[in-house]
Amino acid sequence: MKREVYCGKVDESFIGKNIVVSGWVHSRRDHGGVIFIDLRDREGIVQIVFQPEKKEIFAQAEHLRSEYVLSVKGLVRNRPEGTVNPNMFTGKVEIVVEELEVINSCPVLPLEVDDYKETSEEIRLKYRYLDLRRPSFQKNFILRHKISQTIREYLNREGFLEIETPFLTKSTPEGARDFLVPARLAHGSFYALPQSPQIFKQILMVAGFDKYYQIARCFRDEDLRADRQLEFTQVDMEMSFIDEQDIMTIVENMLAAIFKNALNIEIKTPFLRMPYDEAMLRFGSDKPDTRFAMEIKDFTKELANCGFGVFKNVIAKGNVVRGLCITGGAKFSRSEIDGLTKFVGEFGAKGLAWMKITANGAESNIVKFFTKEEIDTIINKLEAKDGDLVVFLADEVDIVAQGLGALRLKMGKQLGMIDKNKFNFLWVVDFPLFAWDKEERRWVANHHPFTAVKEEDVDKLTQEKAGEAKARAYDVILNGVELGGGSIRIHKSDMQAKVFNLLNITEESAKEKFGFLLDALTYGAPPHGGLAIGFDRLCALVLGEESIREVIAFPKTQKAICPLSNAPSPVSEKQLRELGIKLKEKKPEA
Ligand code: AMO
Ligand code: AMP
Repeated sequence: MKREVYCGKVDESFIGKNIVVSGWVHSRRDHGGVIFIDLRDREGIVQIVFQPEKKEIFAQAEHLRSEYVLSVKGLVRNRPEGTVNPNMFTGKVEIVVEELEVINSCPVLPLEVDDYKETSEEIRLKYRYLDLRRPSFQKNFILRHKISQTIREYLNREGFLEIETPFLTKSTPEGARDFLVPARLAHGSFYALPQSPQIFKQILMVAGFDKYYQIARCFRDEDLRADRQLEFTQVDMEMSFIDEQDIMTIVENMLAAIFKNALNIEIKTPFLRMPYDEAMLRFGSDKPDTRFAMEIKDFTKELANCGFGVFKNVIAKGNVVRGLCITGGAKFSRSEIDGLTKFVGEFGAKGLAWMKITANGAESNIVKFFTKEEIDTIINKLEAKDGDLVVFLADEVDIVAQGLGALRLKMGKQLGMIDKNKFNFLWVVDFPLFAWDKEERRWVANHHPFTAVKEEDVDKLTQEKAGEAKARAYDVILNGVELGGGSIRIHKSDMQAKVFNLLNITEESAKEKFGFLLDALTYGAPPHGGLAIGFDRLCALVLGEESIREVIAFPKTQKAICPLSNAPSPVSEKQLRELGIKLKEKKPEA
């Protein structure tokens, strides 16, 4: 028997026809002498019926269990009145079985292939082939495929060339830890797996390819989170003779095409552009979730001379005071407020000042330190209402922004203020080019060291003024997630040398690490720039999944293990010898 139609595609157009379908037994129901089986394949489920008149087949059907593999031939007919399932594509029909072939049996399952059953992640990943059979997963991967096809079609149409770059390469400066691969032919030397194709894509621009893309795997040895894996996929692109506007337009139109094709949702372009400073001030984050308001307000000016010592002293030192109005928060108990204080403490905040807003005005142990005008300013600026809780952080600007930004998100989620049906895109622009590394006491690149400075800030490329220099960099944000980021690159080797110098990267070290890029830049490099989108994050957001593990076929667990293959695992002495490696000691298991 050869399969003729997908189970999930059998509809009324097949009524009266004899067809062959193949698939897995999703469920079996015995209904007083009639056996119903939901037969499942990639495209969905169809109901097949075994009638007692066909004695031999019926007897066989009694032994069918979950996940047996079958082919059946039968007549498609209307389901009897009252048994129609309007929620299923195949819900109006059923197949009356005339021939049955049991292709494979299946033992009792370690997990149920059912979307509603919760199983531990360890088990799910160990038996990933069963986990992936769940209809919701099949849907996720069909959509992931559709999204990558849309991307390819769109970029091909725009004149991009798909070019692959090496996995066995040199360390690239994306800031995470590298995965190293020992070289058999040069003991003591290592390849690094690419953290991104960054340097190679720039070199492809020097090579004259003009528009490049790649749906590229990237490798970063960092701690895993819901939106981070050791290996992940980027939609990576680079263009020559362009500016920020060109790249943003390409990306906006690409995302619009994806949302149209995948979800039939029209997203509005161009996206909002928000300077980094504004994002940090209003949302306390460089990836603001703008699906809800509850914005942070600054009170540094207004409270500089207030009677509350904590605020006054902090401001006198050049630091800031900012506040957040938690809608309906006046009902929080003292221990709940202590919980919030502890929460912001994780970001370095030394306390959390608060006032409950009631019909009688502001109430708390610190209200007495403020004048009526100051309280009015606070209430007006935060648009606080009866029943709200107003909270403040006074500290260094980064601590205040981060603490209040995280608190805003936590409260937004807790208070149900986030509309899950919204897709809020925006660009964050005008990033600082450098950040100050307190421990190493030196400037570090915010994005990567190949990012160009804004033309008007070229004179700020000095140790003293570096903190004020803005980058020609941009991040695209969706619902508070950094979906992608990129920049216009430096295309002149003297400028690149100047930036390395500022970063305290010596000429030798730069040569050793990125000499091949620096050389390339001397041989007629065109102006160029690009961006990379986190493809797994994009798919997860489109599908409304909390974790990128739900859109990656074979992800690693939180402990960076693959329970299916048992990677990582020890290797033989012989393999190590060939690589010139001798193990000092085994790391104890975590
Ligand atoms: P960046 O490091 O910002 O830029 O990475 C681009 C996007 O990749 C996604 N991403 C990840 N997704 C899953 N797991 C991870 N561990 C992970 N790390 C990053 C994010 C991020 O926005 N070469 C530059 C791009 C450029 O300048 O063109 C780069 O790699 O969504
Ligand atoms: P204290 O003066 O230590 O009794 O603190 C009074 C209130 O101010 C408490 O609610 C503290 O949590 C809060 N507080 C202390 N330091 C800070 C700070 N740096 N920023 C915000 N609130 C603070």
